[in-house]
Amino acid sequence: MVPALFLRIVPLLSLSIPAVLLLPKAEGLTCQGDQFLTKDQICCNKCHPGYKVVENCRGHGLATNCTLCPARQYMDTMNFFPNCFSCKRCRADLFEIQELPCTHQRNTVCRCMDGYYKSVIDSVTFECSMCSTCGDNEIEDKKCTQEGNTECKCSVNYYRVKNKCLPSTILPLLTNVIAGAVVAVVLTLVLVIVITHFVTKRQTERKLLSSQESVESPQIYEALKINFEDASGHTLNSTPLHNVISQEPSNLPDCIPLEIKIPDVIYTLLDLVPVLQVKQLVRSLGVSDTVIERAELDHRSSKEAHYQMLRAWAEQGSHTCQGAGGQGGVLHLPQLYQLLDKLRLMHLEQTAQELETQYHCL
Ligand SMILES: *[C@@H]1O[C@H](CO)[C@@H](O)[C@H](O)[C@H]1NC(C)=O
Repeated sequence: MVPALFLRIVPLLSLSIPAVLLLPKAEGLTCQGDQFLTKDQICCNKCHPGYKVVENCRGHGLATNCTLCPARQYMDTMNFFPNCFSCKRCRADLFEIQELPCTHQRNTVCRCMDGYYKSVIDSVTFECSMCSTCGDNEIEDKKCTQEGNTECKCSVNYYRVKNKCLPSTILPLLTNVIAGAVVAVVLTLVLVIVITHFVTKRQTERKLLSSQESVESPQIYEALKINFEDASGHTLNSTPLHNVISQEPSNLPDCIPLEIKIPDVIYTLLDLVPVLQVKQLVRSLGVSDTVIERAELDHRSSKEAHYQMLRAWAEQGSHTCQGAGGQGGVLHLPQLYQLLDKLRLMHLEQTAQELETQYHCL
């Protein structure tokens, strides 16, 4: 049994091994990790970090002509590039200072000035943002470092409510208010349901009545009609009652989000967010670098460019939600919340609050 199986597998194996070895040739030559394939199908050795290619090797086993990167340029990997990368300059106007100078093999290393921290944009890019100070009734939980902003916590006996530290005495009061609001909402809902229930019930009664009217005696009609009279003696016919019901929701005093026109929000943002932080905000809202670069190319004025970036974000949401975006579209509530979150993460608390009071009631 076993030898029979073995004999069956062996020819299969001997067929498949050469096939695997032949595979790279069929798809074109593949070179080793420290080599690259030239246009002439030759495997040449790559240049070492700090060097760039002057001329590819002229044949198998011959060396690539590599040369040291020029001054103020670097190459930090094994490569076959004809040019080295330019060294970054640390920009004092963006609150950066040089930590390590550029070498042929390593880019300049910048860090943030004291009082600033790196707010990370992606794995290689960062922006120096000012360390925030703790607000009223807050104490410092973690000092601001290169890697992260100050972290604050509420002082003893204070509790965080809507990003503010409030004394514990206010807390029970606040929960009472919230509980009160919840009860009010529930009661209104129950009322609406009960009214709708009775109205539909009476309407069916009425329909039944009118279909039987010709048959039944007029006394029954009179008896049923009394049921439609309210306390003040007015007869309620179905139409006005219907109106009362359909108006009910808009009369609710609780939170109704206002219509948020996209251009209004953007102009408010451009007024309140520091110019240097707008791009960071836009990135954190998930707008792609392509869109950002496009906006910068399209507009000379940075305000217009920022406008375009923010509009790209705002309209992203309206497309996915309802497709009702376009010029002068309306911002959706989830987007407003996302925006408020990001603003707070960037320590733009005042901007967040301003937007909150403008566009969303308590
Ligand atoms: C490498 O290229 C440089 C610049 O073209 C040349 O001066 C040098 O002779 C080349 N070296 C070799 C080994 O071919």
